[in-house]
Amino acid sequence: MSRRIHRVVVRVTVALVCLGPCLGALAGGAGQTVSLVPLPVSVETRAGSFLVTQETPVVARGEAITEATKLIDALAPALGHRLRLIEESSAARSSIQLALESSLRRRLGEEGYDLEATPGTVVIRAAAPAGLFYGIQTLRQLLPPAICGRQEAEGVQWTIPCVHIADYPRFKWRGLLIDPARHFIPVPDVEQYLDVMALHKFNRLQIHLTDDQGWRIEIKKYPQLTQTGAGMDFTAIGRSGKTEGLRPGGFYTQDDIRHLVRYAAQRYITIVPEIEMPAHTGAAIVSYPQLGLYPQKLDALPPQQRWTANERVLAPRPESVAFMQDVLTEILDLFPGRYIHIGGDEANIEHWKKSEEMQGLIRKLKLKDEPQLHSWFIRQMDTFLASRGRQLVGWDEILQGGLAPGAVVMSWRGEAGGITAAQAGHDVVMAPTSHTYFDYYQGPPATEPKAIGGDVRLEKVYRYEPIPAALSTDQARHVLGGQAQLWGEYISNQKHRLYMTYPRAVALAEVLWSPKDARDYEQFMARLGLHLERLRAWEVNYRPL
Ligand code: ACM
Repeated sequence: MSRRIHRVVVRVTVALVCLGPCLGALAGGAGQTVSLVPLPVSVETRAGSFLVTQETPVVARGEAITEATKLIDALAPALGHRLRLIEESSAARSSIQLALESSLRRRLGEEGYDLEATPGTVVIRAAAPAGLFYGIQTLRQLLPPAICGRQEAEGVQWTIPCVHIADYPRFKWRGLLIDPARHFIPVPDVEQYLDVMALHKFNRLQIHLTDDQGWRIEIKKYPQLTQTGAGMDFTAIGRSGKTEGLRPGGFYTQDDIRHLVRYAAQRYITIVPEIEMPAHTGAAIVSYPQLGLYPQKLDALPPQQRWTANERVLAPRPESVAFMQDVLTEILDLFPGRYIHIGGDEANIEHWKKSEEMQGLIRKLKLKDEPQLHSWFIRQMDTFLASRGRQLVGWDEILQGGLAPGAVVMSWRGEAGGITAAQAGHDVVMAPTSHTYFDYYQGPPATEPKAIGGDVRLEKVYRYEPIPAALSTDQARHVLGGQAQLWGEYISNQKHRLYMTYPRAVALAEVLWSPKDARDYEQFMARLGLHLERLRAWEVNYRPL
């Protein structure tokens, strides 16, 4: 992608018209504050504003019509009416226009856009539909915050300050992770999560579909995975010994998944499925004990004891490899995206050391030790996925025993895994606990809802730099972007999920989208104040500042 625009215009002629704290927000026409997150590459404000009325048409042709409809849908609840869609540009006065122009590709890439608002028109131009979509997200933020409301807002002047914005993302992987394995997340809650992600220009949602505590996706060939493995929601049992008040588990049918994949794609978000192996496989082993190291022993246990009692690492026999490849076959049918996450983390391979059978397997495969057996197992999945045109993603433990040829590394135990992988020419996604674990506390533990531990505050997220200093310019090209992890052990409902996500995800959105040189925490905080009014209007929970 071409990166021609380096200019980030931050005018400081602001204070005159801002009512609240607005350092870093820009004064737009009609005294309206231009306060955008993530910060665009270039923003120039001008005098005057464009007024959206009942009569304002949205002009679009061809593929742009789909995006125009999304704009009309997004604005309708708060406006109290649907803007008219028209195709002819002769009626273009006092209109909002969306136009695809492939010549913009060199300057703005696939996701970039150019937005120009004058008193007479608002024009969003992009090389591809994704760019129009992101321009629309910016347009929503140029309107008063009440535009995010779910009901008609009375007495609001729907003005858009005159402005010229040119914008495109810094990174191509701008991700969040949710964890329905620990506490199942109903489909409408995933939809809302995607809706809010889209406003912040995120484009990847990793869904952690399987773990010790539950198997959350229907696999036709192995129905027991959901008949047994989805009835679990065991984390709380494991930690507290109590069972009352716990929700039963749940799972996504294949139709649910198709729906969510489509819903996400309409928002230019790719769902990255995560099917954990060879560890975090407790729910699979409960359902099919032959996957485990000690099937006889497991068989004898009642289900609710198995998840802690089982060895939480599967036995990488040829039959287990075939089983997981069968699962992946159905996964590939459901998820069209290039990247398939197979976990790979936290495998207690000590259990393979103690197993006669696994020691025999190591000898048979002519491997040296258990880390090599781990690597061998991951390679079986890498080859399988590559032969079907997909790419394996795994947590940084997949480096142990040798990295599979096509693997993308998700670096969670700090930066080291990401650095090693990028230096070896592998793509990486930065997801370190230190800055991107959103299940960690975001304030003093005494006053926050119970969390798993840690300390990842808003400012820390904002100051995160995804490109490690140790990488050369060439190696840095392997950093696809970054991702925040919202593990679900302590998060059982959507209100809490959103509270843990926002506003930290707003900070991360800016880290991943905006130019590095434009990042300024004080300015961000000023813009965030207004942005939280949008979330409030949208009834999206967040942690107050
Ligand atoms: C992880 O948090 N185990 C990836």
